[in-house]
This record gives sequence, structure tokens and C-alpha cells, in this order.
Amino acid sequence: MNVILAGMPASGKSTAAKNLSNIFSVPYFDTDAEIELRHGNIAKIFETLGEEKFRQFETEVIEEVCKKNGVIISVGGGSLTVDKNVKILKNSGKIIYLKTQTQTLYSRLAGDKSRPLLSGDTKQNLLNLYEKRAAQYEGCADFTVSTDGLSADEVANKIKEIIIQNDILNSGTKE
Ligand code: S3P
Repeated sequence: MNVILAGMPASGKSTAAKNLSNIFSVPYFDTDAEIELRHGNIAKIFETLGEEKFRQFETEVIEEVCKKNGVIISVGGGSLTVDKNVKILKNSGKIIYLKTQTQTLYSRLAGDKSRPLLSGDTKQNLLNLYEKRAAQYEGCADFTVSTDGLSADEVANKIKEIIIQNDILNSGTKE
């Protein structure tokens, strides 16, 4: 079974994935990084091919990394908005939702140019995305970790406890 880290952009998924990979000595995969390896810069993909194509690339990467077992996977913020992705992810492991207030996200994202869906009025776009997605994240999550006010190490430690208590990485593939 895999550990899947989901949540809004800048909720700390990638950092937590790296830290947990070190803690448990298992590989980690970041779906955005995998997409960039295969297809180039994400902002550029949105610009030249559009969001639909990006979502197709994202689903392909999710399908591929979910074939692995006993790894940490961090998924892009929009992944759980696509039913097919949710089905694949749920079948491959446990989804841990990193829940972070929009104010915290905004403080990390101000000035960021790498996320096309937030470009322009970042604060408002962030609020809109959060409103649309919060219920989806909560609905899909097997576990929720509130990250506000926590350091990256503290977030990783909280997730570590969940992984150990529920034996997520050591159990077999979920059928
Ligand atoms: C997106 C989030 C990004 C990336 C793409 C789309 C989204 O990932 O997949 O820009 O729809 O929220 P992060 O959540 O890692 O920023």
C-alpha cells in the first residue's frame, strides 16, 4: 500500500513526501515533477496545450506511479477533482489530506508564478479553488492532517504517526 499526500497548492505535500521518504527509507514520487520530466514545464503545458491536456498527463502519471507499492506519492492540488484519479489513488493506498488555511497558503504563494490556476489575483483564485475543492478533499481523504502553524518536520512527524499506527507502508496492495 502507498501513502498519498494531497491538498491545496503550497500545503507542503512535496516537502512532506521528501521528509517521509527519508524517515522510512522508501522512494517518493511527486506527480508534478513526473509530468515535468515527461512533458516539460507545467505553466508552459497550460499555456500551449491547455488544462485538459495537463489533466490527461496527470492521470497517466497517477496510473503509472500507483502501480508501485510501499512508496510515498504527492499529487498535484487538482488531482482529487477528477473521479478517475480518486479511484486509482484509493485503490493504491491511503490518502492523507494536508489541510491548510488559505491565509497560510497565500503567505507562501504570494509572488509565485509557477501555478497557472493561481495567476492574476492569487488571493481570490486561491479562495475560489479552496471553496470548490475543500469538500472533495475531505470526502476523499482517509486521514486529515491540519498543518497550520506547524513546521515541515512537525507535519512529517504527524504523518509518520498515522503511517505507523495504520501500518500503511507495510500492508499489501489494497484490492
Ligand atoms: C494544480 C496544482 C499544481 C499543479 C498544477 C495544477 C491545481 O500542483 O499540479 O499547477 O490544479 O491545483 P501543486 O498542488 O503541487 O501546486
